[in-house]
Amino acid sequence: MSVSVIILAAGMGSRMKSEAPKVLHRIAGAPMLVHAMRTASGIDAQRTVIVTGHGADLVANVATDYDENVLIAHQEAQNGTGHAVQQAATPLHDFVGDVIVLYGDTPFVQPETLQAMLDKKTEGHGVVVLGFHAADPAKYGRLITSNSGLLDKIVEYKDATKAQRDIDFCNSGVICADAKLLFDLLDDVTNDNASGEYYLTDVVGLARARGLSCAAIACDETETMGINSRNDLAVAEVAFQTKARRDAMEGGVTLTAADTVWFAYDTIIGRDVIIEPNVVFGPDVTIENNATIRAFTHLEGCHISKDAVVGPYARLRPGAELANGAKVGNFVEIKAAQIGEGAKVNHLSYIGDADIGADTNIGAGTITCNYDGVFKHKTEIGERAFIGSNTMLIAPLRIGDDAMTASGSVVTTDVPDAALALGRARQKNKPGLALRMMNKLRAAKAALKKG
Ligand code: UD1
Ligand code: CA
Repeated sequence: MSVSVIILAAGMGSRMKSEAPKVLHRIAGAPMLVHAMRTASGIDAQRTVIVTGHGADLVANVATDYDENVLIAHQEAQNGTGHAVQQAATPLHDFVGDVIVLYGDTPFVQPETLQAMLDKKTEGHGVVVLGFHAADPAKYGRLITSNSGLLDKIVEYKDATKAQRDIDFCNSGVICADAKLLFDLLDDVTNDNASGEYYLTDVVGLARARGLSCAAIACDETETMGINSRNDLAVAEVAFQTKARRDAMEGGVTLTAADTVWFAYDTIIGRDVIIEPNVVFGPDVTIENNATIRAFTHLEGCHISKDAVVGPYARLRPGAELANGAKVGNFVEIKAAQIGEGAKVNHLSYIGDADIGADTNIGAGTITCNYDGVFKHKTEIGERAFIGSNTMLIAPLRIGDDAMTASGSVVTTDVPDAALALGRARQKNKPGLALRMMNKLRAAKAALKKG
């Protein structure tokens, strides 16, 4: 049975106090909307529809950037969750299968949980709702179940009786139903309630009135955490990181100070990787087995192969690719560059738009001068080359295999294989001049004091 997902993302999120739409605020480097979209792709959703409203263009751009096949439905006025879902009727008019509704501000629902809902539905239920037992049920909608454990209806807090408010089994907002049935039921939803809104939750009572059975399954409350404020965002970040650290360690990664390592939503790390304290991951990082990431390193958009060692205090930016056993040391920045097998860039260097061959050594303070103010240029360095300390490599440039540059050189033209490039002024020694100069200066200072 095929499934489509509708993600509600029209709300303003006024409690964020932000110019940006709520669902674009980031957790672990990705907008929370993208977390929901990843959940949808985790169950191979055939179609994903995003319902936009506030900041619609911004939201649609982020959604299509992440997945060009995503469908956008616009909700002009926010008349309730039921009304929001109705906006997806057009992009799904010819879809046959199940539909799951997610919220763009509830980023942690797991694909396995949605699969459990789909499985539950195959037992013959019209609607399946995801609930949770709330530590503090507060203003959530309450799930009213019958003695047989089936779901009778959902009552919004505002419309609930005192006895109903005592129930701690709450609606997460995630709902699953056959597409045709869902839109049919929504046609019957009215706004005759305490909020004057069209409630998605009413479809449960309406399905029961048609003689269909409905069911609820429960998940852990951490999965249904919704974000409404900056404080919620910070709490969600910690929740994400706590899980990511645990998952990494369970996968065979050593974190010497787990609480100080910050992962991105898509970080991938192999076995026996050691990550020292205070390492920060931006999006799109993969690390192969047995690499070591030393303390205070910042990684983003890079690939680190087996046995490589990075840091302490290194920065790998998008397009940095380290081959097996490469070493990148302290205060080194690498961008859009391949560092060959066993090559070393150990101290105080900038390597950008470059290709460095195997077993080459880059001396301390080397800079690839890749930018002329308008264009970026490439530096190519062969295998087993030796770049002397403080070499300025003025790109475009090629340094051959087994070539060397003298320390302090400014290298402006290609260096052939095996050649030594000297690109610096010749040294002259002036006997006695240093001492004579100092004596003169000291005498001048003494004269000033007297006068
Ligand atoms: C909703 C549920 C409630 C549940 C709670 C869980 C309804 C009627 N109530 O209540 O049972 O316990 O979520 O968090 O469904 N949205 C739109 N367009 C709209 C209205 C809402 O896109 O017109 C989006 C919001 O941006 C948000 C989500 O739908 O992402 C939920 O809306 P919200 O107003 O927060 O619903 P609650 O009142 O919290
Ligand atoms: Ca809410």
